[in-house]
Amino acid sequence: MKTNIAVLGAQWGDEGKGKIVDLLTPHFAAVARYQGGHNAGHTVYVDGTKFVLHLILPYHRELDVLSEARRGERKIGTTSRGIGPAYEDKIGRRGIRVCDLVDAPALADEVRENVSARNRMIRDSTLDWKPVYDQLLAFGERMRRWTGDVSLALDEAGRNGQRVLIEGAQGAMLDIDHGTYPFVTSSNATIGGACTGLGIPPSAINGVLGVAKAYLTRVGEGPLPTELFGEMGNRLRESGQEYGASTGRPRRCGWYDAVAVRYAVRINGIDALALTKLDVLDGLEKIDICTGYTVGSRTITDFPSDLNTIGAITPVYESWPGWSAPTKGVRDYASLPAQAQRYIKRLEEVSGVPVGIVSTGSDRAETIVRQDNVVGRWLQ
Ligand code: GDP
Ligand code: IMO
Ligand code: MG
Repeated sequence: MKTNIAVLGAQWGDEGKGKIVDLLTPHFAAVARYQGGHNAGHTVYVDGTKFVLHLILPYHRELDVLSEARRGERKIGTTSRGIGPAYEDKIGRRGIRVCDLVDAPALADEVRENVSARNRMIRDSTLDWKPVYDQLLAFGERMRRWTGDVSLALDEAGRNGQRVLIEGAQGAMLDIDHGTYPFVTSSNATIGGACTGLGIPPSAINGVLGVAKAYLTRVGEGPLPTELFGEMGNRLRESGQEYGASTGRPRRCGWYDAVAVRYAVRINGIDALALTKLDVLDGLEKIDICTGYTVGSRTITDFPSDLNTIGAITPVYESWPGWSAPTKGVRDYASLPAQAQRYIKRLEEVSGVPVGIVSTGSDRAETIVRQDNVVGRWLQ
């Protein structure tokens, strides 16, 4: 039987991972988030109450803002949460780890060194290391009870027959190695990040659920081949309330890009998709699906790895009829309008994997879990 399932973004982030993770959590003994940080804005509604979930460590924000300013027109459009600088510290082997927070003398040395390096980097900066140290020490005290070796805890959970839900942030196309570099985040949002982030072997991951919107959004700079400008883009943005949970920025909207999702399926070994925000398409006369790209006289069906090619592509679309009866809040598959079922079937064909979950609203209850495919079997 499948035990540990990874849930990760199959597009450019904000696919609705928070809702899907929340929905699946009762089936698991633990949820283990493997990468990212405060850039991830997950939103969950329970009984009409909205929860926006964040991880907060403010130490690196200023460097993030300065680095974006330095890039000028070439800016990444980061969330300004200090994610890049935090990962730079980690790779530069000067990162402060959670275990350091409860070791006062070691922490003092590390903070003093880091702050003085930072002051040398930023002109006229005279940041005092002591208040930073005091704040981190206080965080350490608050977190001590919940701090431990995650790799060990997950191994023990497995040996006790407990199931773990492995949770990713961002999405495949924002992955530092496999996304649209340099317009990416600073961590591995794809499946490899689960092994390195949590300290688990590949064999501990028994299934991969990719989360994808029934259309597409991106926040920040960088390529988005199926981006819609004008009225249709605005229609999706308003119906889908496509404004960033972290920063409130309007998200760029576009049609479902099967090339990008197939790429995410390949890189991650996605077994099935959770298709979210189907209800946002309610009432549209026609819905397009991108099935390939043309570059000059060539048609390509694999996502290009370099920005130059991505910049030169034109999406190839198929048009599908929309539906007039609402899907909003529908809880069983057979009750979806026939055209919505056809649209989903076509997305399965062009994406190369089945759709196991369909989300028809932001509430936990507004969901269809299909029992007749792999996801139904995972949750038995
Ligand atoms: P995440 O970062 O992948 O967790 O996604 P976000 O929470 O940033 O963005 C998804 C947004 O869509 C949130 O506001 C969710 O409450 C909302 N949402 C999730 N699923 C659905 C759905 O099926 N329909 C609608 N209308 N909203 C949804
Ligand atoms: P969740 O988990 C969507 C984007 C930023 C920017 C790029 C780099 O909610 O899906 P960063 O602050 O990480 O250095 O920004 O990545 N980005 C996200 N876009 N959803 C997210 O997280 C994102 N986290 C970062 O907009 O383009
Ligand atoms: Mg989000």
